[in-house]
Amino acid sequence: MTEDSYFKLLEDAMSRAYAPYSKFRVGAVVRGESGQLYAGANVENAAYPQGWCAEASALAAMVMGRETTLTEIAVMAAGDQICTPCGGCRQKLKEFALPGAKVLCYSPIELRATITLDELLPHGFGASYLP
Ligand code: THU
Repeated sequence: MTEDSYFKLLEDAMSRAYAPYSKFRVGAVVRGESGQLYAGANVENAAYPQGWCAEASALAAMVMGRETTLTEIAVMAAGDQICTPCGGCRQKLKEFALPGAKVLCYSPIELRATITLDELLPHGFGASYLP
């Protein structure tokens, strides 16, 4: 997939957001270890805490695609600041992320930042802690 069609996929995901309350549309694209891409958007609810993030939608799509390992996630949102995954999504991503997994933060215009999940969630709790 070209850089251009990757960007369009993210844009399209963001356009599908259901965000009537915050008006903050977010699109996410996860890259599974296979290279397959899985898109998602935030889905809000009138009972506010029941809404969920774009990252969670994309992860659900990945699992439905029978993949449980990812190398990268891209997030797109408008605004002056980069949109990084929220705390809860950092934890959700850790469940499936391979070592060194990247988080790409896009505006609707360009890639603004490339970070790693380890930078966003240092010393994070994971399956290795469990007996
Ligand atoms: N949101 C995401 O979808 N991903 C993020 O990384 C940050 C926040 C959503 C949740 C809610 O629907 C809206 O953005 C405002 O918080």
